[in-house]
Order: sequence, then C-alpha cells, then structure tokens
Amino acid sequence: MTLAGVQRKEGEADYMKVLIVGSGGREHALAWKIAQSPRVDKIYCAPGNAGIAQIAECVPIKAMDFDALVTFAREKAIDLTVVGMDDPLVGGIVDVFESHGLRVFGPRKNAAILEGSKVFSKDLMKKYHIPTAEYESFTDPEAALEYLRTKASFPTVLKADGLALGKGVLICQNLEEAEAGVRQIMEDKKFGSAGDRMVIEQFMTGREVSVLTFVDGKTVKPMASAMDHKRAGDGDTGLNTGGMGNFSPSPFYTPEIAGYCQKNIFQPTVNAMAKEGRPFKGVIFFGLMLTGDGPKVLEYNARFGDPEAQVVLPRMKTDIVDVFEACIDGKLDQIDLAFSDKACVCVILASDGYPVKYGKGFEIRGLENFKDKDGYYVFHSGTAQKDGKIVTNGGRVLGVTALGSTLQEARANAYKAVDWVDFDNKYYRHDIAKSIDEVK
Ligand code: GLY
Repeated sequence: MTLAGVQRKEGEADYMKVLIVGSGGREHALAWKIAQSPRVDKIYCAPGNAGIAQIAECVPIKAMDFDALVTFAREKAIDLTVVGMDDPLVGGIVDVFESHGLRVFGPRKNAAILEGSKVFSKDLMKKYHIPTAEYESFTDPEAALEYLRTKASFPTVLKADGLALGKGVLICQNLEEAEAGVRQIMEDKKFGSAGDRMVIEQFMTGREVSVLTFVDGKTVKPMASAMDHKRAGDGDTGLNTGGMGNFSPSPFYTPEIAGYCQKNIFQPTVNAMAKEGRPFKGVIFFGLMLTGDGPKVLEYNARFGDPEAQVVLPRMKTDIVDVFEACIDGKLDQIDLAFSDKACVCVILASDGYPVKYGKGFEIRGLENFKDKDGYYVFHSGTAQKDGKIVTNGGRVLGVTALGSTLQEARANAYKAVDWVDFDNKYYRHDIAKSIDEVK
C-alpha cells in the first residue's frame, strides 16, 4: 500500500522511496505533496521536524553532511532525493549524489551558483539582456564607497554576494546608511565570506511577485505565482525575515505579464545557463519586480521558496514525483503541469522576537484542529517533539494555510485557522494578502 492509499498491482514496478533534505515549512509542504503520489510508499526526511514526522520518517542527519546522506540513501535504496534547502545545493550535494549513481532533484553546484552568487547572476543577466536593475559589483570596499559617493542614487540596494540566510540585502535610504552597510558587509564581515564581494544595485519600485518554475536544463514550466511578505511587522514595517506569509495566485501577475516573463526572463535565463555550460535542472524561483518599465528580476533562487511552496503546492494538481523525474530526465516538455483555480493564503505563526531573538520549547496546542479539515493545512517550520509534546523550535514555527474559491475567502479561512493553534510567544502579521483589496 502506498502513502496515497494505492494497492500495488501484480507485475507493477516497485514503489519508490523518497528522501527529502531539509527541515522547514517548505520541506513539510514537499513531503505532504510527495505523499500524495501513488508511486511513493516511503518518505524519509533529513533532518525534518515534528510535523514532517507525521508523514515521513525523520533521520537525524544534517543537510550539509553529504557523506552521511549518501551512505543513508545507499543503505535504504532511496530511489529519489529531493533537496529543499539552498545551502546544500550551493555546496554541491547534487554532484555528490550523482557521483554515487543516486537520482536527485536539484541543480548541480555549477548551476546553483545562480542563487549562490549575486555577482554571477547579475553578470549573467547583463550578458544575456535579461531585464534587471542597473548595478556594479565590487571586491574592494574602498571602490564601493567611492561609487556610493560619486555615482549612486538613493535609496540604493546593497547585496552581499553569497548566501546569507536571506539577510544579505540592505536597502539604504541615504549615503550614510549605505557607507555603514558596505562596512558591515565587506569589512566587518557581518555575513561571513558571503561579503567578500558585493553588488550595489539601483532600487526598483513596483509590486513584487514570486514565480517558481520547474526546469529540466532546456524547458521551463512555471508553477502558480505567489506574493511574499518579507517584513516582520504589519504594514511592511520592521526587519526583513524569511517570509511572514503569502498568497497565490498574485492578481497583479496577469496572463500578459506571465507571457512577457516566459519570453523575456524565464526561457532566456534557462538558455543562458545552458550556453554557459551550466544547464539548470530543478526549481528556479524568479523574484520579480513589476516596475513601470515592465517586469525585472530582483533575484534568483535555486529552490522552492519558503513559504511560497506552502501556497503553491496545495494548488498543484500534477503528481510532483512525475515532474521531478521529468526534470532529471530532460523530459519536462512531456508534462502537463496543472494547478487548481482555488486561491491559497499562508500566515506564518512565529515566535515573538523573530528574526532577532526569541524563546523556544513552548508547547503548541490545538494542532489536532486541522485533522480532516479539507482545504486547511498547518505546515511546520520550526517545531520539535519533547516529552511527547510538540514544541516551538525556531523563529518561524507554523505556516497556517487555507484554500478558498477566491483570495478573499482563502484569506478569511487562513485567519480563522490561525486561532485554532496557540503557543506562548505566538506572533503573526494581521495583514497578509491585504493588497488583494487594491485590485480594481
Ligand atoms: N520566501 C523567500 C524565500 O524563500 O527566499
């Protein structure tokens, strides 16, 4: 019997064992979606969390311990490994798995650089005329400071070159702030070696939209669009976070804009990577700004977004395991990627104090309220099991997610479900998806 409740037919090939690498809400959403595949009868997750443990067997192996992951995958005869997180992808986990003959979904190291280096991605866009903000890159802080004093306009955007837990982007309102930012990134090494190089970029205005796409090296197929809320506080105030909630689809991402992006951004990016000898297979997450001059790329990620996965995957109708395999085998053109017309909203329940300092270990009550409720999901981001209870174990704790016939209905459902769970220190934004009220 598979996880999706399908009985194996005689003579049919063995069902699959899948390993997911990661431990957040994105990996919980992936585990939930993979479990619906009639092809899968066992899911492991390394290291996972308390919510994932309800679907998959969690194994205490860290995502960066490639040797231990390979040994585990070989011992358990894993058929497919799906890597959720950016660090192992940028660190080359796919190359290591492939060198042992293991099937794995995600970009190789030479393609994951699309997220791993801002300088690389900006240079790629410039070379291949992919719309993005004007920029300069720097290896020397003095040259960066000189540029700020003589050429930059404000606000301006500073980006550490490498991965920095999503915190390496600073929006500076004036020269003083920008000078301090350069010193933090390049001299004080606030983001470690991610700040060995940096980009200074023109500030763009408009609406942001996230588009996750499946890519097989040559074909690119977009999933449904989403819109994230990165700031910690209501009204887009406070510090940048990994994302405090989001919704799908974005009503601002019209079919015309989607067509423009496919032609001028998505396909050219995939073609450019192939031309550079870095064919990309996996998910490219296009962070876009819909500016007055048309859509432009804010950033690329080489993975599913978190919490974008939590609102996109509940709408996906296609068997995700078929899509993963098609990407690996270069056959994505043969997949009919379909999404439901329903809307989806996710509200992140965080620990008060996130993203700076927060307590952990508080009991979470009410999770059972989601059982057997169609269209309501609670994806665990930072949870653990302790003394038979589920407790908070991170800044982002849960992603309360709901479907609805419209975005308004999905939003009302999600906020209703926010009250079903409780824990000390519970904090959330009250205005997720507020911008949909501005749609004319
Ligand atoms: N939600 C933004 C990200 O996953 O990078």
